[in-house]
Amino acid sequence: MLKKRYTAIILIVVFFSTQAYADGHKVAIASAHPLATAAGFEILDKGGNVFDAAVAVSAALAVVEPTGSGLGGGGYWLLHREKDGFETLIDGREKAPLAAHKAMYLDKDGQVIPKLSLDGALAAAIPGMPAGLVHLSEKYGKLPLATSLAPAIRYAQTGYAIGDRYLKMLKVRVELIKQYPATAAIFLDNGKLPQPYSILRQPDLAHTLTQLANSGRDGFYSGCIADKLVKGVNKAGGIWTKEDLETYQIAERKPVTGQYKGIKITSASPSSSGGIVLIEALNILSGYDLQKTDEITRKHLITEAMRRAYHDRTLYLGDADFIDIPVKRLLNEDYAAGLRSSLRPDKALPSEMLSGELEQQREGTNTTHFSIIDEEGNRVAATLSINFPFGSGFVVAGTGVVLNDEMDDFSSLPGAMNGYGLVGGVANAIAPGKRMLSSMTPTFLETDTQVAVLGTPGGSRIISMVLLAALDFAKGNGPESWVQVPRFHHQFMPDVIEYEKGALSDAEITGLAAKGHQLKVARYAYGDMQAVLLNKANKSLSAASDKRGEGRAVVGH
Ligand code: DON
Repeated sequence: MLKKRYTAIILIVVFFSTQAYADGHKVAIASAHPLATAAGFEILDKGGNVFDAAVAVSAALAVVEPTGSGLGGGGYWLLHREKDGFETLIDGREKAPLAAHKAMYLDKDGQVIPKLSLDGALAAAIPGMPAGLVHLSEKYGKLPLATSLAPAIRYAQTGYAIGDRYLKMLKVRVELIKQYPATAAIFLDNGKLPQPYSILRQPDLAHTLTQLANSGRDGFYSGCIADKLVKGVNKAGGIWTKEDLETYQIAERKPVTGQYKGIKITSASPSSSGGIVLIEALNILSGYDLQKTDEITRKHLITEAMRRAYHDRTLYLGDADFIDIPVKRLLNEDYAAGLRSSLRPDKALPSEMLSGELEQQREGTNTTHFSIIDEEGNRVAATLSINFPFGSGFVVAGTGVVLNDEMDDFSSLPGAMNGYGLVGGVANAIAPGKRMLSSMTPTFLETDTQVAVLGTPGGSRIISMVLLAALDFAKGNGPESWVQVPRFHHQFMPDVIEYEKGALSDAEITGLAAKGHQLKVARYAYGDMQAVLLNKANKSLSAASDKRGEGRAVVGH
């Protein structure tokens, strides 16, 4: 459904409003797409609160950033309500279908069948995004769901101009998409890559969103859309049942919290590993004065903290509804002090020296995040995903819904290596109805004077990106700085520091290698961080979008 219209960029300007209020309060929104940010302000203009705005931004991203998230995926919404200090995590992570089993991606010799958990209908888990939107709207919003979904429905109907980022992601998955006529009919132009700034219209998706707007969760999880999805998925080799859709439920979870040098950290609890790994790394680092150490030692210490925290991700983390996770221990400061005692400022500890049984897990390269805060401090950090760009690449004809390939976030086979090199644990084995472990890290950072809301896409690197941003916040810098921090990453296995081109100076590369680190430059700049900040004293707001992406950060005034 692509039409070439090179002037369409004007649409972005027309839809965009900078004058917006929630209950008369100023609001800051940063999201991965200008139209999604505009959708949030449109709903605030209609009298919505920040939670209604979050519904509007999430749904708009599902339309205007179909590479990263959507109704066929899931995610996490971290909420804070200022009047009573209430905080919660809406866990709308996808679940394994009830017919899923441990060996579903293995051949008869017990080896992983390449791509089976990534491409096509069998890679798709039961979506949580529609249920998350309905829940967020009904429980925390002020406006009817249909009002908050209206901008997204309009974008799907009238179309929007695709940008460079979209095309870049499409190129990654174009060969896969060509295999699925219903997907190709939406996103390709007669089987070929569309021209930049072509108009993408998604009438089927508009219809599915309208069903959701009119009928709430039944609009997606039962009735004609659900019938189509189940039939279409099964015809294409998947294993969904009506029961899978009917029984899907979001979970509300207590966010994890920690302290780092006077900063309160609030972040995603399992089924995401994000908050625990972030806080554990910060706990390890709290024993050092990173402002006073030289840059090489500083980066070495951060790397060593990442190594140890990601190692525990491997060993202990998975869906808390299925396994016991030693959350208290992992977040305990004395436990972190124990890990710190194995850390030498002059020398890297090879990952293989850390104990525990390992297994391998893969992760994707696309997702989305947005951050919202009003001047009272009401706020939402949301990271949403369909995993790889365009998820599984599979759309059931007539629904417009791109199905996720989030099943790949499970460990398909204990001990197996794979292309991405992220190591998973037995805790994250496939089981019917279980949520696969995520790295999504929607986060609040709070001091006596400031509140920050931030997060990013980026697969396993999400957590290290949020960690680097949190350390930059601790230095006293603002959102423009956090989103631009040059990035480096260590995830325990493979035992290597991956860094963005230019993120490390020659002297740092040499100095880190001298301490025993292996280093590798990343193939491309990664992440798309979206961040907002409230200064509590004068209620001033600021916001920033990562320049690596095409997002828009706005303070409504
Ligand atoms: O849940 C996760 O950790 C992954 N599915 C997220 C994938 C992702 O962020 C890819 N983004 N660039």
